Amino acid sequence: MTELQREIGRRRTFAIISHPDAGKTTLTEKFLLYGGAIQTAGSVKGKATAKHAVSDWMELEKQRGISITSSVMQFEYDGYCINILDTPGHQDFSEDTYRTLMAADSVVMVIDAAKGIEAQTRKLFKVCARRHIPIFTFINKLDREARDPFELLDELEKEFGIGTYPVNWPIGCGVSFKGVFDRDKREILSFSDMHKGMNKIKPTPCDITDIERMDELIGPYQRAELVDQIELLDGASFEFDLEKVRKGELSPVFFGSALMNFGIEVFLENFLKMTTPPLPRLSGEDEVSPFDEEFSAFAFKIQANMNKNHRDRITFFRICSGKFERGADYFHVQAGKPVRLSQPQQMMAEERQIINEAYAGDIIGVFDPGIYSIGDTVCSAKKKVQFEGIPTFAPEHFSMIEQKDSLKRKQFVKGVEQIAQEGAIQIFHEPNTGMERVIVGVVGVLQFEVLEYRLKNEYNVDVIRNDLPYSYIRWIKNKGIDVKKLNLTSDTKWVQDFKGNNILIFTSEWNINWALEKNEGLILEDFSKD
Ligand code: G4P
Repeated sequence: MTELQREIGRRRTFAIISHPDAGKTTLTEKFLLYGGAIQTAGSVKGKATAKHAVSDWMELEKQRGISITSSVMQFEYDGYCINILDTPGHQDFSEDTYRTLMAADSVVMVIDAAKGIEAQTRKLFKVCARRHIPIFTFINKLDREARDPFELLDELEKEFGIGTYPVNWPIGCGVSFKGVFDRDKREILSFSDMHKGMNKIKPTPCDITDIERMDELIGPYQRAELVDQIELLDGASFEFDLEKVRKGELSPVFFGSALMNFGIEVFLENFLKMTTPPLPRLSGEDEVSPFDEEFSAFAFKIQANMNKNHRDRITFFRICSGKFERGADYFHVQAGKPVRLSQPQQMMAEERQIINEAYAGDIIGVFDPGIYSIGDTVCSAKKKVQFEGIPTFAPEHFSMIEQKDSLKRKQFVKGVEQIAQEGAIQIFHEPNTGMERVIVGVVGVLQFEVLEYRLKNEYNVDVIRNDLPYSYIRWIKNKGIDVKKLNLTSDTKWVQDFKGNNILIFTSEWNINWALEKNEGLILEDFSKD
């Protein structure tokens, strides 16, 4: 095995998703703690009071005490090199969140045991399902009152249309939480207040028919309940099938408490065994193997103006094959030009570091003088490839913006265009009009504030913003169609993106159905790859 194969083979790159407050940050932090990457809990999150360790690049972000941009963290565990892609957990998440999922090989979904599936998890799940990404579920907060675990699994299966395989099973919850039963190893990992620290918890082998021993461990009432539940599970639940897990059809489920450090190790160990090293990616019809000697990567996220004085941009690339070497000459496919990736950096837990090399599966941030767009490919000049672009996701909020001072038109246009190029907003216009007024579409409303703030701070432009009542967007896929002749409701609006694609924005699904029913042959899509 070559060094390249060994390095790539031990990489695991995953995104962690959840609805706000389900415990994503706490769990991430515990992963880093177990990996020895950080020494104290409380250092990951940019909460108002906590240390701002990552991505506090904007005043706005600091003021709000939330993390707007997604971060990437790398750490080692048990011989594996793990890249965690954090997705913002706030309500007002942006398209960035979706794109981050494009760079991951698998996803860890954190669910609050008392709440089950929540709005944001649902949205993110849809994106994962579209890519058939393996999904691992961590049901968190078992130290508190929780919903019935069968009900939670049922919800996952019904709502998401995937199978679930509980790797372990909770014994009680809240004050009567006794731990989890490992279905495969047939042992109990018992929970007690003693485990709040970093101590490794030793599992207790446990024959479920040994009543005496079981009663000693969890008491007769919970023993009886557990025996029944395990019997039911063994008889009725899905069989474990690694192939299905890897195709995203079966989600292994783990129960635990991130806050109490309970169930984290079991999770990590199983997760690392079940997930794959970096997966091949498509370049046209061809698959590019991660183990290919030649370097290739695609841009999935652009973070601008981390330092206001320098107007700098960092573009994040997911390496898809080979090894990245600092200072090497590469090729930027979309520009058709040779390129050097300068100041390559990686996020190692709490710090950004300049790196000299990185491998397929890793994420690197590089200094961007404004040349990259989301979805761009950079590769070795010896073997040119071009990865599929990243789809444009459907914005759900729209606003009309124009500059207050018409003399600032140039700055306004530049600012709006640049921010759109970074992928923070999508811009549209009414047909046959120019850039005087722009319709801005965003996935989360916070992006409007970010836009206004950045236009003022970085481009010195004040804008007037009028929020529009639309919340659905559909790209018209019929080429050469005469949109004016379509039969549409009065509150449906025709707009175009700056590539000239025709788009309809709607106030309700009812109006979308109307458009489809009244215009035979009309093809509408809710995301664009053009
Ligand atoms: P998020 O990133 O998904 O938004 O969630 P985060 O980890 O910030 O957790 C949200 C809240 O839930 C935090 O409490 C956190 O301490 C708590 N929490 C996380 N995991 C568990 C768990 O396993 N059990 C229990 N009981 N609580 C958990 P907070 O009071 O909002 O914040 P903080 O003051 O503790 O930082």
